[in-house]
Amino acid sequence: MSEVSTALIHHPYTPPAGFAAPQAGVFKASTVIFPNVAAMRNFDWKDKTAYTYGLHGTPTTYTLEERLCTLEGGLQCLLLPSGLAAIANVALSLLCTGDEVLIPDNAYGPNKALAEGELKAWGIDHRYYDPMDPQDLAASIGERTRLVWLEAAGSVTLEFPDLCEMVRICKARGVTCALDNTWGAGLAFAPFDLLPAVKPALGVDISVHALTKYPSGGGDVLMGSVITRDPSLHMKLKLTHMRLGSGVGANDAEAVLRALPSLALRYRAHDEAARALAAWCQSRPEFAQVLHPALPDSPGHAHWRALCQTGFGAAAGLFSVIFPLRYSRAQVDAYCDRLSLFKIGYSWGGPMSLVVPYDLASMRRSWPRHLQPGTLVRFSVGLEAASDLQADLEQALRVLVG
Ligand SMILES: Cc1ncc(COP(=O)(O)O)c(C=O)c1O
Repeated sequence: MSEVSTALIHHPYTPPAGFAAPQAGVFKASTVIFPNVAAMRNFDWKDKTAYTYGLHGTPTTYTLEERLCTLEGGLQCLLLPSGLAAIANVALSLLCTGDEVLIPDNAYGPNKALAEGELKAWGIDHRYYDPMDPQDLAASIGERTRLVWLEAAGSVTLEFPDLCEMVRICKARGVTCALDNTWGAGLAFAPFDLLPAVKPALGVDISVHALTKYPSGGGDVLMGSVITRDPSLHMKLKLTHMRLGSGVGANDAEAVLRALPSLALRYRAHDEAARALAAWCQSRPEFAQVLHPALPDSPGHAHWRALCQTGFGAAAGLFSVIFPLRYSRAQVDAYCDRLSLFKIGYSWGGPMSLVVPYDLASMRRSWPRHLQPGTLVRFSVGLEAASDLQADLEQALRVLVG
């Protein structure tokens, strides 16, 4: 080779054989080199036995996909650049003009925004159903319903629905059901085996997971996954994934791979601290209501207990409080501002505790019957010592005096 620039590009390289290490390698590629033109023509991008282009998969992303299938009990997985991209991929893949999608009223807000924005503009209708009333779901399913979204626990208000009954209804009516499984994270319950005794297995058709939260665990990666057990459903989703160009970068995939081994430990630590803090808040007169599925008077507690009370009885590290009407919105904002360990910021699942006040009235069709009137604040409990977090929650209450 005459020129060093050419030599550096064509420098021979063989991946290390016999190199076993705990962590999978990071393989970065847009281009994947074929041995010859015939191979290029014969390799099918849909077939995971061959690599064709970085967007369709690399050894790093395939490894992450396999581990996520193991986590959630699925068989096929797609990776996307965010949890919301994963939600959108499901909708765009399964819905056409004239179809209808059903969404729980307490769903993750941008899922509803997608329905109200792009889906509506393309002639796809949506209806919101009461997540705490399976009969409302049953009554809402119509001839044009092609997709039902489920979420457990619900975003922000954390009601735990009767997931098994709702899946049973969808199956009986032949409608595809997709669960936003970010809260459960594959640890609180098994989305594809909700009732293991029922044969064939009773479970969701699709599990969507914002890996941005607990799987990444650092508050520094955006990624989502779509997991299935049915190869034809997966292929439909995969074709949309390819046409939208929704691949993920190898460094981000590696960050999630690196965090997965500590996922269960972290989830348990978030859970334990959140339960302790939620119980403490319940003992305080400043809060009208505390929302956490493991609290006996939290909406849907019995469903949470029935589904999640195996092993250590898992719940994520989220809880919300409702400040009564005697405190103004400005006072509640001042409370959030006064917190020092709980930082003000969106998302959850990372090591740092977070707090967000929500304008719930603007997010729901009507104020939910099971919620006290007031101002809702959601806490995402990080990995700090629970005693420090409790002291922080307590010291900020002083702004409410006077
Ligand atoms: C329940 C739930 N689903 C999905 C998402 C979307 O995840 P991402 O931020 O990666 O788009 C979020 C983000 O907050 C969420 O809370």
